[in-house]
Amino acid sequence: MATFISNSPAETEAIARQIAEDLAAGSVLALKGELGSGKTLFTQGLVAGLKNDAAVTSPTFTIVHEYQGGRLPVYHFDLFRLENREAAVRLGLEDYFFSDGVSVIEWADRFPDLIPEQARWISFEIKSERQRIITLCHHDHENSGA
Ligand SMILES: Nc1ncnc2c1ncn2[C@@H]1O[C@H](COP(=O)(O)OP(=O)(O)O)[C@@H](O)[C@H]1O
Ligand SMILES: [Mg+2]
Repeated sequence: MATFISNSPAETEAIARQIAEDLAAGSVLALKGELGSGKTLFTQGLVAGLKNDAAVTSPTFTIVHEYQGGRLPVYHFDLFRLENREAAVRLGLEDYFFSDGVSVIEWADRFPDLIPEQARWISFEIKSERQRIITLCHHDHENSGA
C-alpha cells in the first residue's frame, strides 16, 4: 500500500503521470472516492502520462470513453449512473480488462464483484478544498483496510 498527499489538482495529475509509467496492456485501475475527490482529474493525468494528448472528460453519462493512441489505449469507465449490476454486466467489462489497453474505472466500488482480482484499487479522500489523500492498494478494497 502506498499513500500520497496531493495539495493541488496539478499534484494529483503528477501522481497519475508517475503511475502511468508502470502500466501495461491489461492493467486495471479501480478508483473509488466521493464526487469531486479527483478520480477524473487523476485519469487526465494518467492519459497524459501515456503520451496521449486527448482531452479527457468524465464518462458519467456515456459510461465509457476510449482514448486511442499514446503508449497504450485507455478505456475510462464511470459506473456512477449504472442502474444495476445487469447493466454493468452488459457492458462486457471483461473484454476491456483483458485487452490491449488500460482500464480505469471510476466508482468501481459500486460493483466490486465485477472488478478482476488483478485490479489495483486506488481510493481518493477529500481532506480539504485543495487536499486529497490518494491510497494505492494491490488487492481487494474490502480487505485493504483503506
Ligand atoms: N488536490 C486535488 N486533487 C484533485 N482535485 C482537486 C484537488 N484540489 C481541488 N480539486 C478539485 O476537485 C475537483 C475534482 O473533480 P473530479 O476529478 O471530476 O472528481 P471526481 O471524478 O472524483 O468526481 C476538481 O474541480 C478539482 O479542481
Ligand atoms: Mg469523475
